[in-house]
Amino acid sequence: MTTTELSPAPLGRPALPEIPDDMTDDVRARLRQVVARHQGHPDELIQLLHEAQALLGWLPHEMLATIATEMGLPYSRVRGVVTFYSLFTTVPRGRHTISSCLGTACYVRGGRDVLAKLSDTLGIDEDETTPDRRFSLGVVRCVGACGLAPVVTVDDDVHKRVNPNKINDLLERYE
Ligand code: FES
Repeated sequence: MTTTELSPAPLGRPALPEIPDDMTDDVRARLRQVVARHQGHPDELIQLLHEAQALLGWLPHEMLATIATEMGLPYSRVRGVVTFYSLFTTVPRGRHTISSCLGTACYVRGGRDVLAKLSDTLGIDEDETTPDRRFSLGVVRCVGACGLAPVVTVDDDVHKRVNPNKINDLLERYE
């Protein structure tokens, strides 16, 4: 019997296809300019990362590796700062950002069912982006529309009294 035959079947949702990197030669050149402004000043790492993230809206692995090399810092330190601060993300953003509310009012009125339906329909979990970059999914803890819970926002649109069975109709409004 081969090793493959002994391997257990994968559980849960299949792995997402790889999302292509956004690192182009133009982005690399602009990253070099950003790094040059902070070279020799490791105490400016957070500011540097902030400026680097502004180039694409997220921080790909190659970007972090370049910053670590050029600043003479261990990759683990750069990565550690990125994972510590919630304003940084290593996940590419979709064209539309969905935020499913799980504040108290939305939670007790079915917010978890709405989030579960969004997750199932899109095939992604919280803080992930669909492979076609159409949607990113996240959770918020109240958007101030508690009387009309459960609430979902898509970009600047606030959808109130969201019915999990109507999630497909809601998503179809966004290309
Ligand atoms: S708890 Fe969801 S809008 Fe307030």
